[in-house]
Amino acid sequence: MSPLVDLRRLPRHVAIIMDGNGRWAQCQGSDRTIGHQEGSRAVRRIVRASRRVGIEALTLFAFSEQNWHRPPAEVVALMELLRDFLISERDELLENGIRLRAVGRVEKLPPRVREILDPLVAETAHLDGMTLTLALSYGGREEILDATRALARRACAGELDVDAIDEAQLEGALPSLAVGRVDLLVRTGGEQRISNFLLWGAAYAELHFTNALWPDFDEAELYAAIAAYQGRERRFGRVQGATTETTAPVLPSLAHEAAGE
Ligand code: IPE
Ligand code: IPE
Ligand code: MG
Repeated sequence: MSPLVDLRRLPRHVAIIMDGNGRWAQCQGSDRTIGHQEGSRAVRRIVRASRRVGIEALTLFAFSEQNWHRPPAEVVALMELLRDFLISERDELLENGIRLRAVGRVEKLPPRVREILDPLVAETAHLDGMTLTLALSYGGREEILDATRALARRACAGELDVDAIDEAQLEGALPSLAVGRVDLLVRTGGEQRISNFLLWGAAYAELHFTNALWPDFDEAELYAAIAAYQGRERRFGRVQGATTETTAPVLPSLAHEAAGE
C-alpha cells in the first residue's frame, strides 16, 4: 500500500464515478463493450482494495438513469456484464463480509439482472465488513424527487408534520444516504462534473478528478485519491482549524438559530 495513506484518517464513505470505458476501448481500436468488460475488472480490483484498506462504504456509479438513452446494444451489453459481475462476485462478497446494496430505480433493470441482484442483496444484508452500494439506473435528481414524493405522501396521510421535516427526515428517505454522507468523491476519465450522481450526499464531499480512464484505475490510483483527501482541510463552512470532524457535523440547534427560530 502507498506510504502516503494514513490508515487512521480514511474517508468513511468513498463514491466513484467510473467513467472512461468507451474512450479506453476507442484508444485500443475496440468496441465500447470491450471497454465495459475491462471496466468490470477494475470494479473487482477496487472493491477488493477498498475492503483491504478498511473503507466502510463504497458507492459506485455503475449505470445512470440517463444511460438508458445509450444505443440499445450497449445497454444490453452493460446489463449482461452486470449480471456476470454479480454472479462471479458472490463468493468474494460473502468471504470478505461485504454487504451489497443497490440504489436507483432498480425496478427498471431487466428481470435477468434482478433475479441475481435481489437474492444477493438479501444474502449479504447481515455482513458488516464493508458496504458496497451499486448505483443502478440512478440519478441524484430522481432520488430527491422520489424522496419528496414519499414524504409528501406521508404528510397527506397525516403521518408526518410538514413543519417537522428536517435534513434527517429527508436523508432517511434517500436510499443513498443510508450509509452516510460522502467523504470522498472520485471521478475518473478526465471530466470534471457530477453527472447527476449523489447530489445531496456529496454536498461537502472532497472531490478528486483523475485523467485515468476507468479500466486503468488501479490500487495506486485509489491510494492517490485517498492521499489527496487526507491532504485537504474540511471546513464545512467554518473557519480554518475549527473542526476536526471527518464527516459533516450535524448541529440542529445551531441550524435553527441561524434560521432565526
Ligand atoms: C462509464 O464509461 C460507464 C458507464 C457510463 C456505464 P463510459 O461508457 O461513459 O465511457 P466514455 O465516457 O464514453 O469514455
Ligand atoms: C456518468 O458517466 C455515469 C456513470 C459513470 C455510470 P456518463 O459518461 O454517463 O456521464 P456524462 O454523460 O459524461 O456526463
Ligand atoms: Mg462517460
